[in-house]
Amino acid sequence: MNPIRPIAHGSVALRPVGRRDYWRLQHLLTLDRDWLEPWEATTPGLRTVVNAGWMISSLKSQARRGTGYGFVILKNGEVVGQLNVANVQHGSVSSATIGYWIAQSAAGQNITPTAVALAIDYLMDDLGLHRVEIDIRPENAASLRVVEKLGLRLEGIKERFIHIDGGWRDHKVFAITAEEKNGSMLTRLANTRSE
Ligand SMILES: CC(C)(COP(=O)(O)OP(=O)(O)OC[C@H]1O[C@@H](n2cnc3c(N)ncnc32)[C@H](O)[C@@H]1OP(=O)(O)O)[C@@H](O)C(=O)NCCC(=O)NCCS
Repeated sequence: MNPIRPIAHGSVALRPVGRRDYWRLQHLLTLDRDWLEPWEATTPGLRTVVNAGWMISSLKSQARRGTGYGFVILKNGEVVGQLNVANVQHGSVSSATIGYWIAQSAAGQNITPTAVALAIDYLMDDLGLHRVEIDIRPENAASLRVVEKLGLRLEGIKERFIHIDGGWRDHKVFAITAEEKNGSMLTRLANTRSE
């Protein structure tokens, strides 16, 4: 997947993850273990090993099949995190799920809300998807702020939905449809932030 337009706003940009991101992602994922681990998906019965190479291969293979898209989040041209689009379905469902993380050193600068706004605009305006979902553990206050800033709608709770940090965890499901978006997510973000 190669977006035909730059996906950027000010100093924040998204670009498809690639092999060239291996060392940077491996470094950040290792350095920020304590920061990321409570929110990271795990496989039941398997010990987590940080392996950016395997992760990049998996995301590239999903992109080739059109089932998912992995992006790096850039701030002033430097990779500071990731935004992954999973469960991409076209046709009568036309929906996808977004997940994200950012380096602890880059937190609190509104980078993730901007990246998510860019991604939702891209998925709906360029790829023609109708609905975007974000699933968040009720304990993850920082991530709940991200969807609050973007004005996503709470759909409900999926109990013991995803295996995170070694156990099956409840998730709050947030979503937005194209009808609700009604314009640029960046404008929506700017409006909710100034309220
Ligand atoms: C959730 C996360 C992606 C938010 O990214 P971000 O770019 O920092 O987002 P924001 O700048 O909008 O900050 C969101 C909230 O985080 C909190 N925050 C701000 N600075 C922070 C810091 N240095 N450390 C921890 N939390 C901080 C604030 O409550 C902030 O809300 P506010 O802007 O109303 O004050 C980031 O905290 C993260 O990567 N966490 C670990 C992985 C994770 O939780 N991924 C999401 C799984 S659903």
